Amino acid sequence: MIYVDACFRKETSYTPIWLMRQAGRYLKEYMQVRSQAGDFLSLCKNPELACEVTLQPIDILGVDAAILFSDILVVPMEMGLDLEFLKGEGPKFSQTIRDEKSLSLLKENSFDKLTYVYDAIALIRERLSEHKALIGFCGAPWTLATYMIEGEGSKSYGASKKILYQNPKLAHKLLSKVADELKGYMENQIKAGVDAIMIFDSWASALEECAYFEFGWEYMLDVSNYIKERYPHIPITLFPKGISSYLDRIYGNFDVFGVDWSTPMGLAKEILGDRYVLQGNLEPARLYSVEKLRSGVDEIVDIMGARSGHIFNLGHGMIPDLPRESAIELVKYVQSKTKRG
Ligand code: CP3
Repeated sequence: MIYVDACFRKETSYTPIWLMRQAGRYLKEYMQVRSQAGDFLSLCKNPELACEVTLQPIDILGVDAAILFSDILVVPMEMGLDLEFLKGEGPKFSQTIRDEKSLSLLKENSFDKLTYVYDAIALIRERLSEHKALIGFCGAPWTLATYMIEGEGSKSYGASKKILYQNPKLAHKLLSKVADELKGYMENQIKAGVDAIMIFDSWASALEECAYFEFGWEYMLDVSNYIKERYPHIPITLFPKGISSYLDRIYGNFDVFGVDWSTPMGLAKEILGDRYVLQGNLEPARLYSVEKLRSGVDEIVDIMGARSGHIFNLGHGMIPDLPRESAIELVKYVQSKTKRG
């Protein structure tokens, strides 16, 4: 599998590429299957249909890896928080976790209930080419905790920060509870058949440096360490979004560092490139223009070279109204430009 080889810094015949949110609303095929399922969460809970949308970008774009179709929020949902995706508003939980009492009501061993995810993984692995990796994933404890505290997406993370600074003990209890669930969840995804793991810390940039390392990075690393100790052959990618000014403090046992679009690739290479394979980091909005996407690829490949140490990706997820032709062109352009004779 070219993707797994690249994660372990082996020389590959070209730089592998996949795209965050490669399955999603910019594909009419996805919209069709989602309406067949009824809604987004029903799609996540239906292994046959989740398998189908996971494989769509493999067929349509020719990417080198599939990422499991699901969502990071199924974990808090199975811990007991009712979840809804409201049209145009994003995710909403009916309860929030802001005190000891609500924290104590959270269920343990939620990973035993996520059988629809494991069933989807088994189906996908069966139907996916043996040359293509299947990436499993979860949200990082900090990012999941913000949703559990706020009850929804947030711009200021007000309630979460109040707890961090007023009642750090409660924050640590919530974060370690979530981290424990994620360890079991990642372990079960591996047993079901994923070839690699990625952990998304989408809201890392909400925190000042010392707070991020105390409440964010440490907990993401705790999950990563647990998996690396038991499954060293499974590559792990960590993606703390928006922390370019803290790069010199990044450490720990994982394989690939996910670089977001706001971090200059040259800076990431200089600080982390010797220790970690880098993934990223084309600004997704460049896909609005084929010319801009090509020049963006040229810049990134010039910096990263094309022998090893780089996995091409966007610097965040596909935007729903990006033209599919751009995504197809991007994959073709990267694979042919980096091909070694
Ligand atoms: O193709 C893939 O990348 C795999 C599937 C995937 C989804 N969500 C599907 C999805 C993955 C890896 C995620 C991760 C996820 N979910 C993150 C971390 C990555 C990131 O984007 O920073 C976060 C923060 C979430 C939470 C979430 N899920 C939000 C905030 C939303 C609503 C916002 C939006 O884009 O509409 C979702 C919904 C969601 N997750 C969709 C998809 C395809 C859109 C749902 C739809 O079909 O309407």
